[in-house]
Amino acid sequence: MKLWSGMLDGSLDKDAEDFNSSIKIDKRLVFDDITGSIAHVKMLGKQGIIGKDEVKKIIAGLEIIEKNLKEKSLDIDMTCEDIHTFIEGALISEVGEVGKKMHTARSRNDQVTTDLKLYIKREGLEIIKYLKDYGKIITNLAKNHTETLMPGYTHLQAAQPVSFAHHLMAYSFMNLRDISRMEDYIKRLNELPLGACALAGTTYDIDRNFVKDELGFDSVMGNSMDAVSDRDYVMELSSILSIIAVHLSRLAEEIINWASPAYKFIEIDDKFATGSSIMPQKKNPDMAELIRGKSARLIGNMNGVFTMMKALPLSYAKDMQEDKEFIFDSIDTVKSCLKIMADQIQSLTVNKEKMLEACKVGFLNATDVADYLVKKGQAFRNAHHIAARLVKYGIEKNLTLEDLDLEIYKKESELFEKDIYDAIYLKTCLKNRKSQGGPAPEEVLKQIAYVEEKIS
Ligand code: ARG
Repeated sequence: MKLWSGMLDGSLDKDAEDFNSSIKIDKRLVFDDITGSIAHVKMLGKQGIIGKDEVKKIIAGLEIIEKNLKEKSLDIDMTCEDIHTFIEGALISEVGEVGKKMHTARSRNDQVTTDLKLYIKREGLEIIKYLKDYGKIITNLAKNHTETLMPGYTHLQAAQPVSFAHHLMAYSFMNLRDISRMEDYIKRLNELPLGACALAGTTYDIDRNFVKDELGFDSVMGNSMDAVSDRDYVMELSSILSIIAVHLSRLAEEIINWASPAYKFIEIDDKFATGSSIMPQKKNPDMAELIRGKSARLIGNMNGVFTMMKALPLSYAKDMQEDKEFIFDSIDTVKSCLKIMADQIQSLTVNKEKMLEACKVGFLNATDVADYLVKKGQAFRNAHHIAARLVKYGIEKNLTLEDLDLEIYKKESELFEKDIYDAIYLKTCLKNRKSQGGPAPEEVLKQIAYVEEKIS
């Protein structure tokens, strides 16, 4: 049945029919469509727009459909145009003529966006759980590594000593922002479109506030044309999920590097690595690579939604039917990436010795040489030059800063004393970087406590 076969004869060209159909995608809105319809019908009854006994029959019918779908004694009819058409048709088959009253004072235009908001709200809360689980796993790993020295990089060049925990906690803080973005977003999403009808409201005396309360929205959308045309919440979610994916892709890239023979900082568990069909020695970080790669899908979906909405005139246009394929894919993909990343991190082995070795060769304590002089009265710029000359000498002689004799130091500045060796001892360098947010173990423990409190 075509809901709209009235003036038109309803017999679409076969290819046009397939092209027009969205049920393959929007079938996942089925239970939200039923929930939305029940609230709508209750409101119609309360307002006297349809009879109380009619309300009872329609709701009973919708509940039977819901039960049968859940028990799999009813299948979604994939020949229907969309999920709304299927539910209305199933209702009419179940309860007869009275079912035809359900769509009074409603349009699929306000219905579809209401269903989608209900679905997205639930999924959004689910994604927050995934984010928290992933955040807990990184933070727990960090707890064991506040003293594990590793090189901190800028430009992927060894820069200054940090700890593995400090590095991991950077991702925990990104994760906190992701959680807070999702939480803010859900508040903004929570406005009810239903009652906008096709675009211009209705002549029936509907009660949108009642429907809002029934469906758990915080407020009613204030303009009926905006209500049916708005897909800001799809654009915004696709952006938020892209940011999450970008964060994950950065960590994925680090995991790929750290697991490579050049670093060997970590070992990925066999459960998350694959071999090569030709090279017997290979252990490939496929899961991390896929997480990195899937961020492209999320960004692509975001671009799709934005491009679809750009310059679209008010109010509803069928272009907007395309929103679901993008956003459903982003939701599914981000959930699988968060889960796989969390499991992969939980099972990896940390190679502290390799991290320490890498710290020893990179002149990571060069800044500490300069800072030592500054604390003895030298101006920083001069101190920087002196430290640079010592590094150059070390490179030429293939020696670390710790290896250089005191007389070599003294040649550069009389301010150097024996205590320079304490100052450049890597553990001291880490311990002394106790500025707020820094890598000193006591500071990282504060970061861990802060994050744990937020995501508990
Ligand atoms: N399947 C449509 C969508 O997802 C439902 C709204 C259709 N409305 C219309 N007037 N054709 O956007």
